[in-house]
Amino acid sequence: MQRTLLTLTGLGLAVLFAASTVVATGHEAGPADDEQVDHATVMGGQEHARPDAAQQVPTTADELDPRVPVAMLAFMAQHQKEQMRDHLLAIQEIVAALADENWQELEAAASRIGYSDAMAGMCEHMGAATPGFSDVALRFHRTADTIAEAARRKDSKAVLEATAATVSVCTGCHATYKQRVVDEAEWQRLTGTGVPAPGMHHPSE
Ligand code: HEC
Repeated sequence: MQRTLLTLTGLGLAVLFAASTVVATGHEAGPADDEQVDHATVMGGQEHARPDAAQQVPTTADELDPRVPVAMLAFMAQHQKEQMRDHLLAIQEIVAALADENWQELEAAASRIGYSDAMAGMCEHMGAATPGFSDVALRFHRTADTIAEAARRKDSKAVLEATAATVSVCTGCHATYKQRVVDEAEWQRLTGTGVPAPGMHHPSE
């Protein structure tokens, strides 16, 4: 008796869960489209309850993330994240230096995210498999240059405006792109180039 009750409760919960996922996911097409599982079993034989929708529940965070993947080798992805964390630190230092009106520190922090040929080369590498990515990256560094320029003029308002413009390129890029780590074979297939040496001091392609 007890067992029957438990089984019934379990079944009821399964049906409820399946039904709620149907409601939550609607009819959007998902990457799991081709992995057909027979959900009629889970649904307790209610075949007419759109069993196809329940199969589209994503199982990884990456499946839920609709941004454009930027393919890169593992060491590049690691390097990019290190760079990113330093970009955020630079913004922190810029804001703090502005509050102190320490123009020299402000300019130094801004220069760290500013344009340089080395920085540009790195960005082009990161985006070698993703058309459009390095354009955003270069625009970011050029915009960051305007923070240093404003600091040289000791113009607080211009520093704030330039910082806002720069951070909006950060957030725009984050809204559009995500990292995707690929192996060397995939990298070569995507870029038509060889595997770059770790350290990013790459020859021009
Ligand atoms: C050209 C594109 C681009 C620009 C510009 C950019 N980022 Fe990123 N950033 C990325 C990508 C791609 C990731 C990886 C995101 C992912 O896969 O979820 C990332 C990740 C990060 C991370 C997470 C790092 C970690 O350890 O996981 C931080 C912090 C970050 N960015 C800060 C910044 C800041 C601050 C700026 C601007 C001052 C900035 N980024 C500008 C593309 C960009």
